[in-house]
Amino acid sequence: MEKTLFMVKPDAVARGLVGEIVAVMEREGFEIERLEMQRFGRARAEAFYDVHRDKPFFASLIEYITSGPVVAMVLAGDSTITRVRELMGATDPAQAASGTMRRKYGESVERNAVHGSDSPISAAHEIAVVFGAS
Ligand code: RTP
Ligand code: MG
Repeated sequence: MEKTLFMVKPDAVARGLVGEIVAVMEREGFEIERLEMQRFGRARAEAFYDVHRDKPFFASLIEYITSGPVVAMVLAGDSTITRVRELMGATDPAQAASGTMRRKYGESVERNAVHGSDSPISAAHEIAVVFGAS
């Protein structure tokens, strides 16, 4: 049983894609343990993306992720981290495989519709930042 932090990002929430994206996760058989719409403030955004603090795109990323509500979920199941990353596709929607969420819904390398933790360590960090220590 593995957990991941999955999130519908502001661009996809704004375009009315929440239901469609949650439906994919249910159809795939993940258990939705938590689900909440949140508007990230700067502190939460910077904590969430702490690993990217030194990247050139950090300031822009913080602006984007705080620009509107996100819908965050804790998903649980077998190999959840890898399976969710496969369903999302590559970071840049233009490079993402056909059928993936980012290929279908992403607008640009930044406004790429969805987020999923990339490792168990990231998942634990992100779940704590978004939903608090449990
Ligand atoms: P995520 O963390 O959101 O699931 O995406 P990821 O692992 O595929 O990508 P990551 O390298 O962790 O980057 C985090 C988010 O930062 C934005 N980004 N912008 N302008 C750029 O070159 C650039 N590169 C990344 C994206 O929103 C990406 O999802
Ligand atoms: Mg990442």
